[in-house]
Amino acid sequence: MIAVEDLRVTFYTPAATVAALGGVSFRVARGDTCAVIGPSGCGKSTLLYVLAGLLRNFQGRVVVAGEAVKPGRRRTALILQDYGLLPWKNVFANAGLGLELRGVPRAEREARVTRILRELGLYELRRLFPGQLSGGQRQRVAIARALALDPDLLLMDEPFSSLDALTREALQDNLLEIWHRTGCTIVLVTHSIEEAAFLGRQVVVLSPRPGRVVATHLNPGAGKSSWRQEPEFHCVCSFLRQQLAGGVADAPDL
Ligand SMILES: Nc1ncnc2c1ncn2[C@@H]1O[C@H](COP(=O)(O)OP(=O)(O)OP(=O)(O)O)[C@@H](O)[C@H]1O
Ligand SMILES: [Mg+2]
Repeated sequence: MIAVEDLRVTFYTPAATVAALGGVSFRVARGDTCAVIGPSGCGKSTLLYVLAGLLRNFQGRVVVAGEAVKPGRRRTALILQDYGLLPWKNVFANAGLGLELRGVPRAEREARVTRILRELGLYELRRLFPGQLSGGQRQRVAIARALALDPDLLLMDEPFSSLDALTREALQDNLLEIWHRTGCTIVLVTHSIEEAAFLGRQVVVLSPRPGRVVATHLNPGAGKSSWRQEPEFHCVCSFLRQQLAGGVADAPDL
């Protein structure tokens, strides 16, 4: 589904030249999940913008679903770091925004949004505005908006970072159910070692800026909700922690 080869991104501003990504390569199979983890500022959001086709100024090769990445691919959905909800639109309208922008007729839009809001337990909240929602509810609206587009590639930027531990785990479980039901490919960027180990069937560890791949760890236990309780899960977490700290660890034998 995704092939990234030697991706480099440099930002040129009047004040400074910033090398954000310094040569990143990885692949994600169709229908698989991949977590990207790395310290703040190492280029994780930049990487997602490139995969989404929003950032065109890069070097290297980036292929999505067999084609060179390009803007406006209809089945790619991106969930932004700050949810990206419009404060003046209610839950129903926010969830339908992507479909509206794509010119999907009203009746179909309403049917799809209704189904997804019900699935995510948001239907009762459909007339509320983002300012009236909790962080977890806002996050679910952002997920609903992405899922309404029927994506085959879901790109998520720190989706659960501002939530308390229990809400976060509930939404991670929710995401796994959606993944099982739809079979979409997921690339998730996170600061959280536990989140990467729980959701990423492959975990790509990036170095401090400019981001380079420190390790690509295969993590086949991820994808089932009981994984969090298994001893191997904790081995993967300590392995990732060491990789992030710059240490050399033997990969756990799974
Ligand atoms: N439009 C831009 N112009 C100039 N520099 C930028 C731009 N976007 C990002 N950068 C710089 O590129 C680097 C990587 O930014 P990016 O947002 O990708 O990091 P990140 O890994 O997502 O960080 P965080 O974990 O804090 O979200 C940072 O040093 C940032 O300042
Ligand atoms: Mg970021």
